[in-house]
Amino acid sequence: MSISSIAVIGAGTMGNGIAHVAAQSGFSVTLIDVSQGALDKALNTIAGNLDRQVKKEAITAEDKDATLARIATSTDLTAGVASADLVIEAASENYDVKKSIFGVVDSACGANTILATNTSSISITELAATTSRADRVIGMHFFNPVPVMKLCEIIRGLATSDETYATVKAMAETMGKVPVEVQDYPGFISNRILMPMINEAIYCVMEGIASPDDIDTVMKLGMAHPMGPLTLADFIGLDVCLSIMEVLHQGLGDTKYRPCPLLRKMVAAGRLGRKSGQGFYAYNK
Ligand SMILES: NC(=O)c1ccc[n+]([C@@H]2O[C@H](COP(=O)([O-])OP(=O)(O)OC[C@H]3O[C@@H](n4cnc5c(N)ncnc54)[C@H](O)[C@@H]3O)[C@@H](O)[C@H]2O)c1
Repeated sequence: MSISSIAVIGAGTMGNGIAHVAAQSGFSVTLIDVSQGALDKALNTIAGNLDRQVKKEAITAEDKDATLARIATSTDLTAGVASADLVIEAASENYDVKKSIFGVVDSACGANTILATNTSSISITELAATTSRADRVIGMHFFNPVPVMKLCEIIRGLATSDETYATVKAMAETMGKVPVEVQDYPGFISNRILMPMINEAIYCVMEGIASPDDIDTVMKLGMAHPMGPLTLADFIGLDVCLSIMEVLHQGLGDTKYRPCPLLRKMVAAGRLGRKSGQGFYAYNK
């Protein structure tokens, strides 16, 4: 199946990046959000990021204008997805929100339209089962910032067809991403490996084994990680880290995934990392 028109639902951190890269790759994009303010902010962010690419001479001013011209916006979900070949849902990480969006989209789209979700932790199989087209539902897990990060985990739900997988894989490649095929289990690959490592680093802080800075130094200089796990946790948000650990713990049922009590305590105290000004490190808000 060939894709030319894409609807991206949710114009936040991930949605604006996905819309940017899809439009830059030649697709016509409708960016949809419940909030007009979020759409205006997303268009500003995309224009600013394209300006930076022009300054670096990675693209021309004409490329920038052509990319922006390929992006339409809408606050009307039904109208916004009606002519899309592929819908990429990047709305807030909440099962009920996503289920309700998938319900509307399933009724509003053509029978062949593929429904993808950028969820970090919700089961693709479970979302697919709420639609009438489980074979055309798939995960497309992009990474932040989308214009920079090359990886796209493509997650196959239990019923995802080979044709849907092949179409979405080709689409990710056209967007300049490196797709990796993943089966639908909690945390997929990225968070299944990353979050327990971050959780273990937090145990090291709790047990007084070393300071956050020294733990990060070990992983940067000893393992060549570009960023230490505690700096990364602050960047992701400690509330997001906790919620993904809960998904791993509940979904896999193994005590090795129990969230570190210090992680729980920091979230309870509102120390959420960069976004709250305080996590394992202090930030100027
Ligand atoms: N931020 C990351 O690093 C990251 C990385 C990979 C995947 N994800 C996933 O991407 C998705 C989006 O995350 P984000 O960080 O961009 O969130 P965000 O909070 O920045 O943006 C979410 C947007 O969704 C909109 N929204 C909420 N309900 C909606 C609805 N019913 N219809 C349309 N729009 C709606 C909100 O107004 C908001 O603009 C989540 O599923 C998240 O797990 C996030």
